[in-house]
Amino acid sequence: MPLPPAVDYRDGALVLLDQTRLPGEVVQDVYTHPDDVVAAIRRLSVRGGPAIGIAAAYGATLGLTEARDPRRRFEDSAAALRAARPTAVNLMWAIDRLRHRAEQMTDVGLADALLVEARAIHAEDRLACRSIGEYGRPLVEAHPNVLTHCNAGALAVSEMGTALAPIYAAARAGAPVHVYVDETRPLLQGARLTALELHEAGIALSLITDSMAAHVIGSGRVDMAIVGADRVAANGDVANKIGTLGVAIACSHFGVPFYVACPYSTIDPATAHGADIPIEERDGAEVLGFNGQRTAPDVSTYNPAFDVTPAALVAGFVTERGVVQPPFTP
Ligand code: MRU
Repeated sequence: MPLPPAVDYRDGALVLLDQTRLPGEVVQDVYTHPDDVVAAIRRLSVRGGPAIGIAAAYGATLGLTEARDPRRRFEDSAAALRAARPTAVNLMWAIDRLRHRAEQMTDVGLADALLVEARAIHAEDRLACRSIGEYGRPLVEAHPNVLTHCNAGALAVSEMGTALAPIYAAARAGAPVHVYVDETRPLLQGARLTALELHEAGIALSLITDSMAAHVIGSGRVDMAIVGADRVAANGDVANKIGTLGVAIACSHFGVPFYVACPYSTIDPATAHGADIPIEERDGAEVLGFNGQRTAPDVSTYNPAFDVTPAALVAGFVTERGVVQPPFTP
């Protein structure tokens, strides 16, 4: 059974697939208040840069029609949503697009105009995924044994996702694609989400633990790696899920091309270098166990959710405008 979309907007409400419960349970929750959307983004019910941007855009429109002061209500919601997570720039980008639209509107047309803008962000993301799939397809056709890290599929974006879009496109075109999927500790987005998506799509995969990735890359089993991005700096440094840097270094050492797939909305020309990207630190409980099950003694932890891969390790950026290279200018 195909998974429902990660983000949907129906009958004046935001509908999010609870990704924390996958793959065991498929549960969609209905949101009518922006504060609940902030909480959903923080607890990773919805996650992945473009998906949280889309969810936040719809979230900022919730309740505006009934609000006594719609502009104040929008500004409060926009500020809270924009701050829900710090690394993925699509969140800030989507909210800033709505703010820009709000500045052009009187209070009377505000709610309708912002919903139109949120729908446009969602629709553009779908188109970007398709284009990324088409531009990345020849790369996967030429390198059918692929490794990916975390989840940059439909669940993190929309439609076909970013890093998974070229994989789907190549498989549909008949390429003998096989994907090594890193499980992606601590929250297992690779095991729980990417393995689920690829399996549902009938694509051959081998799930590996993160600690196996360098060995698998070095053993000649991988022709290319492709990952998504949470933010790309102007110089091409890439913030993505923790563990990505290790994959990129192993690829560089063994001469395996390492690609990043993302829409232009993930490229942040205002951030000059990777060192300027704020890295989210999450609760140590995520490292001490999984799913309520303790796997470590009561010790201190360090839990950065993302790392930064230097631009020099990236063979190319697969975007909706083609496979491009930095620097990225506004
Ligand atoms: O913490 P998450 O699950 O929101 O992190 C998401 C990622 O880092 C993904 O790998 C992805 O590449 C970025 S969104 C397409």
